[in-house]
Amino acid sequence: MTFVVVDNCIKCKYTDCVEVCPVDAFHEGPNFLAIDPDECIDCTLCEPECPANAIFPEDDVPAGQEQFVALNAELAKAWPVITERKEPPADAKDWDGKPNKLPLLQR
Ligand code: SF4
Ligand code: F3S
Repeated sequence: MTFVVVDNCIKCKYTDCVEVCPVDAFHEGPNFLAIDPDECIDCTLCEPECPANAIFPEDDVPAGQEQFVALNAELAKAWPVITERKEPPADAKDWDGKPNKLPLLQR
């Protein structure tokens, strides 16, 4: 199993999640983070840390967001590791909770 970052992280990217990951499984893109399924040890620590509720176990991803399982695996291979929290985008709060942000994902 692995944990997965889903739609609501896009353009919120609070990065609180990266501080607790014991295996540095988070990878950073321009406006989204992805978890490397080959690194994640299912410790569950990151899930409650996300202010946007954007982290789920892969077996419990919200309906309609199943594509994020494969997307995390793909993007984690392409993006660098992030281990330290950074300031979120200035408009993160405005985007928190907006549905269907996938077309806004930057690679
Ligand atoms: Fe890292 Fe644990 Fe979250 Fe997996 S579940 S990404 S190991 S903090
Ligand atoms: Fe994204 Fe939540 Fe982490 S918004 S960057 S998954 S804290």
